[in-house]
Amino acid sequence: MTIECLAQVPHRVAAAIPLLRQGERPVVLVSAGIGATPILAMLHALAAEQTRREIWWIHGARNSSEHPFAAEVRELLKTLPGSRSHIRYSAPKPADRPTVDFDRVGRVGVHVFEEMGVPPDADFYICGPAAFMSGLVDGLAGWGVARDRLHTENFGSGQSMTPGIAAVSRRPSHPPGEAAEVGPLISFTRSNLAVHWGSAFHSLLELAEACDVPVRWSCRTGVCHNCETGLISGSVIYRPDPVEPPAEGNLLICCSQPQGDIALDL
Ligand code: FES
Repeated sequence: MTIECLAQVPHRVAAAIPLLRQGERPVVLVSAGIGATPILAMLHALAAEQTRREIWWIHGARNSSEHPFAAEVRELLKTLPGSRSHIRYSAPKPADRPTVDFDRVGRVGVHVFEEMGVPPDADFYICGPAAFMSGLVDGLAGWGVARDRLHTENFGSGQSMTPGIAAVSRRPSHPPGEAAEVGPLISFTRSNLAVHWGSAFHSLLELAEACDVPVRWSCRTGVCHNCETGLISGSVIYRPDPVEPPAEGNLLICCSQPQGDIALDL
């Protein structure tokens, strides 16, 4: 990527640009949720140099409310004659228009690349939640893509964390101010605290915060995975569904509620 290209990339994302490999190979830009941010910077760079390489833009989102840069991407792709785009919504809204706002219902997986006829000898750049990236890298490698052509970029997401260790609580953990006496029992194992779930809370994150249990979060809507936590026992339901599911054995506390007693690695 040239300095001139970098200068034309919007300032807000310039710092996040991973280096594009030079050459003639097709470029496949893959993202989910806010992972589109650094990938968009790459698309800007390719558009600025008016590349003649084949460009594939593949993005997964929950619906149009959580589909960042949709119009900007469409305009950039129009300037690249060799480009193709595919958008998957996991939970489209009634007003979302198939073939206009999105192409298919579902999530981005290796099957999408097969269906679209993406060339496996392309350079792949992938950004999204950690589970999304690792699953896709393994899947694409199994599909025949050379590992050194699979590039991932961390942005606003991370592996499953151990917030009880990584963060410091200002106060010792304690039951919430309005402690419920019935309802599922929620065990915060690292904090050595067990409290009952109550209807005052919309998510396990809210309950943890009310207890001063150390937590980390960013989007609070199931997009970034910063709140991803180990689920030691029990099960949860999601409201809303995350854009990408957490890794097996984990949960996203920002958008989940317990289904019965549960124990968390918090
Ligand atoms: S997924 Fe972003 S805070 Fe939970």
